[in-house]
Amino acid sequence: MGSAKINGLNLAYTDQGQGPPVVFLHAFPQSRTMWASQAEALSKTCRVVTLDFRGFGESDAPLWHYTLDQFADDVKALLDHLSIQQAVLVGLSMGGYTLFAFYRKYAARMKGLVLADTRAQADTEEGRAGRFAMAQTAYAKGTGAIADIMLPKLLSPVALQTKPELVRQVRATIEQTRVSGIAGALMAMAERPDSVPLLAQIACPTLVITGELDGPTPPADGKFMAERIPGARLELIPQAGHLSNLEQPEAFNAAIRAFLEAIR
Ligand code: MLT
Repeated sequence: MGSAKINGLNLAYTDQGQGPPVVFLHAFPQSRTMWASQAEALSKTCRVVTLDFRGFGESDAPLWHYTLDQFADDVKALLDHLSIQQAVLVGLSMGGYTLFAFYRKYAARMKGLVLADTRAQADTEEGRAGRFAMAQTAYAKGTGAIADIMLPKLLSPVALQTKPELVRQVRATIEQTRVSGIAGALMAMAERPDSVPLLAQIACPTLVITGELDGPTPPADGKFMAERIPGARLELIPQAGHLSNLEQPEAFNAAIRAFLEAIR
């Protein structure tokens, strides 16, 4: 566990294990705690770094407008702080959006790319309006209302019904997130550019993972990216919703492990 002064903010991170570095970037509105089972399993053979984006978890959450370029700059500065020259970067959903920004600026730092439950397209007008409405809800009603909206998106119906401990954990993380972080990240995601033209230019080994039951970024989004990124592999995780790493950690970890072995 640690905290570093990064780009003027305190950024919280965990750095465990030894070996090739693998960095995990979390979803919205979660924190680095969502990667606990990946960190536990993979830190036996890798150096696993998880971090809380600005606005989330134990990182500072200034009241201002955030951008995904800032998130990417924070990740790059943390790599510098930890003396990591190159890493495999794994991003789920908002973490994946951040990796497109990261690739545009810092491709040389990326040894491999894992895009999990994410999409390359920018928001539609309707999607942007939804972000604005959610930011107003967070401000007016608090993070409990955000948890009510997000839980059915983040978890599959079967997980919502049969995994009460997981539901409790995901809800608690959302409820603990500060409104400034939620609003800042919503603005960042709403303004993200279309990354479809970037896909054909991605030159590092890439794995695309999608939960078969993912609603917000369904398997068609994963297939779309895998078909356009040269040499990318697509792994569908059965019985998993949007937070596929939390619903099916063993299958998710196996996919990452096979990818790491393939590129070693
Ligand atoms: C996430 O899981 O990071 C969000 O669902 C992404 C989004 O709202 O587009």
